This record gives sequence, C-alpha cells and structure tokens, in this order.
Amino acid sequence: MATPTLEKAESPAEVSPYITVTFRVRRFNPEVSAEATWQDFQVEIDPKERVLDGLHKIKWDLDGSLTFRRSCAHGICGSDAMRINGKNRLACKTLIKDINPEKPITVEPIKGLTVLKDLVVDMEPFFQAYRDVMPFLITKGNEPTRERLQSAEDRERFDDTTKCILCAACTSSCPVFWNDGQYFGPAAIVNAHRFIFDSRDEAGEQRLEILNDKDGVWRCRTTFNCTDACPRGIEVTKAIQEVKRALITRRF
Ligand code: SF4
Ligand code: FES
Repeated sequence: MATPTLEKAESPAEVSPYITVTFRVRRFNPEVSAEATWQDFQVEIDPKERVLDGLHKIKWDLDGSLTFRRSCAHGICGSDAMRINGKNRLACKTLIKDINPEKPITVEPIKGLTVLKDLVVDMEPFFQAYRDVMPFLITKGNEPTRERLQSAEDRERFDDTTKCILCAACTSSCPVFWNDGQYFGPAAIVNAHRFIFDSRDEAGEQRLEILNDKDGVWRCRTTFNCTDACPRGIEVTKAIQEVKRALITRRF
C-alpha cells in the first residue's frame, strides 16, 4: 500500500496587524487662542497597542507640540489619566482594540481641573486636597525597636485603598467636583480611609473631623462614577461610605 504523504500546507500570506485609526484630540494652547479646538490625526497602529502608543506616534512623528503627561507607561505612576471616548481612563492601560477603532477615538483632558495645555491639567487643587487629609502614618511615642506589628485582619481592613496611584480619574469624574472644585473629592477620601482604618495610626479622629467639613465627605452623592473610573479597581464609593459611617459611629 502506498504510504500517504502529507501535503505541505501553504504558509498564510503575511497580514499586517496595522490599521489606520483617527485620533480626535482636544487641543488648547493659551498662547495661541483662548478656545480649545479638536484636531484629527491619522495614526497607523496595531489594535493591540495602547492609546498612549498612539499619542506617542502623534507626538514623535506628526506634531511635536502635542502635550500630555506620562511616565511609567505601565499603569503605576498615575500620570496619564485622560478622557478617552468620554470616559476617564489611563492612556497606557487602554488598548485600541477595546474602544472601537473603527470610529474616531476622542482624547480630552480630565474634567474639573484647569487645562494648562492640550491634555495637561493643573493638578495642584487635587494634590492640595490629598495633603489636607494628612496621608501619612501618625503615632505618638512608644517607638518600636523593630516594626509596628499589625495582624493580617487589621491590614485587610484598608488593603483596597492602599492601591491608589493618585491618577485623579475618580475625582475628575465626579459631578460634585465639576460643579464645585472645593469638594475634597474621592481620591482624598480614599487616602484618608487608608490611614483612618490603619490600626497603627492615631490620627483617625483628626482626619474624620477634616472630612466632616462642608466640603468633605457629605458632599458625595453616591453616583459611583469614581468606582467606575478607578483604573486600580478600588471600591471608591464603598470607601467613602465607610468613612461616612465612621463619622456617625466614631468606630473605625
Ligand atoms: S482612587 Fe483610583 S481613580 Fe482615584 S486617584 Fe486613586 S487610583 Fe486614581
Ligand atoms: S504612564 Fe504611568 S500610569 Fe500611565
């Protein structure tokens, strides 16, 4: 019997992964005009690349004046939060294929903070609110010879809120913050939560009083925008609710 032979499979033609995507970017340069405008850029990009890669292609190959913040490019530093297709996201964590590249991808600065240029906003009010809640461990006396001990259960209490990277995606997605920049905002409350519920910390009462202010935690209207926006998956609204409850019960 003749030995069957395997037909050599034809190698599939090389298919380029690149597609052309329109980036519709909000441009603003106060030295040129008081008005912001939209500008379209055609970018050759692999759908598996990120929005940040597209912005880099624009800046490096098409228009070096495009201004935006980024540093780590891996979802750690929190510097590239922006509104992408109307939602707050990190450009470095948003894949082109996940946001319908067949339509123009809109990219705007986050809302509620003054735009300085293109996608760069003034983060100072955001960081001032962060500083106001004293985001550091406060203890009195009894210096340990080694470390301050804490049980796994006590550590678990604030584990979620330790993940914050201060990107401002939550605060700048909050309608209360848009209407009145005086509100501390979700990120400051998240970072207060991280210390209020830390069993080693001794300034919980002080932080609660800071957030009991008219611009504090009671301004939250529980819209959940902040939880939806958080690129770290922090249950922001839940943390805010826990701080509210601690203010009522004084137990934390
Ligand atoms: S809570 Fe989440 S969205 Fe808000 S600043 Fe921290 S990481 Fe960003
Ligand atoms: S560039 Fe650091 S989080 Fe995106």
